Amino acid sequence: MHTSYDFSNQVVLITGAASGFGELAAQRFAQAGAKLALSDINAEAVQAVADKIKTKGGEATAMGCDVSSNEQVKAFVSACVEHYGRLDIGINNAGISHPKKRLHQLDEAHWDQTNGVNQKGVFLCMKYELTQMVEQGAGVILNVASAAGLMGSPFLSLYASGKHGVVGLTKSAALEYGKMNIRVNAICPAFAKTPLVENSLKAAGGKSRENLMAGNPMKRLGEVEEIVQAMLWACSKDNSFMNGAVVPLDGGLAAS
Ligand code: NAI
Repeated sequence: MHTSYDFSNQVVLITGAASGFGELAAQRFAQAGAKLALSDINAEAVQAVADKIKTKGGEATAMGCDVSSNEQVKAFVSACVEHYGRLDIGINNAGISHPKKRLHQLDEAHWDQTNGVNQKGVFLCMKYELTQMVEQGAGVILNVASAAGLMGSPFLSLYASGKHGVVGLTKSAALEYGKMNIRVNAICPAFAKTPLVENSLKAAGGKSRENLMAGNPMKRLGEVEEIVQAMLWACSKDNSFMNGAVVPLDGGLAAS
C-alpha cells in the first residue's frame, strides 16, 4: 500500500514516458487523477502507454517527440496546452547513457548525442514549460538528473557532465522563478531496475550486477516504484515549499 496522492484535474507532462521511470510515473499519476500529456522518441510505445491508461479510465495523450529537437519540444508543449488548456507539472525524464569508456576514447558524436538529449533536451523542455507556467502564474517542474549529477562517474564522463548540467539548470531556474509561484526541483536516482540499467548490466556481463549492489550502501539496486513514489511526493501540492532541491534517491551512494 502506497501513500495516496491527489492530482485530480492537474495536467502533467512527462517526457520519455514509454519505458522505465516515465512509464510507471504515467500510470501512477493517472491513478492519482492527473490528466497526462506523454511523449517519447518511440511514438508507438508511448501511444501504447497512453492507450493502457485510457482503458483503465484515465486521461492521456501521446506524441512522438525527440527532446533534443527544439521544434519537436515546442510542438509537444503546445499540443499539451492546446488539448488541456494549461500545464501544471512538467516531468523532464527522457535520458540516455553512452558506451562505458575512458574519456579520451569517447568522440564528439558521443558528446553531441548524450548531452543533446540529457542536457539540451531538459533545457528545451524547461524553456517551453516555463513559458506557459509564467503565463499561468503557477507550475511545478521536476527534472530527472542522476547521482551522476552529484558525483564523478568513471567511464560515464559525458553522462555525468550532462546530469551535472541538469542540476545547474534546476538550481538556476528555481532562483529565477520561485517568486512566480513556480517550483523547480530535481531527483537524482542511481541504479534502479529500468531497461536502461538492465541493458547496461547485460552488456557488461560477468559479476556486474553483484558488484553494483556491493558498491551501494544499501547493498541492492533500486526499485522503479521507489523512484516514482518520490516523483509523486516531489510534485504534490502539499510539498509546496521545496524549490531548487536536488534529491538523491540512490540508497546513499552520493553520500560517500
Ligand atoms: P529507460 O531507457 O527505461 O527510459 C528512457 C525513455 O526515454 C525511453 O522510453 C526512451 O525511448 C526515451 N528517450 C530516449 N531518448 C529520447 C529522446 N531523444 N527524446 C525523447 N525520449 C527519449 O530509462 P530510465 O532508467 O527510465 O531513465 C529515465 C531517466 O532517469 C533518464 O533521464 C535517466 O538518465 C535517469 N536515470 C536513471 C537511472 C536508473 O537507475 N535507471 C539512474 C539515474 C538517472
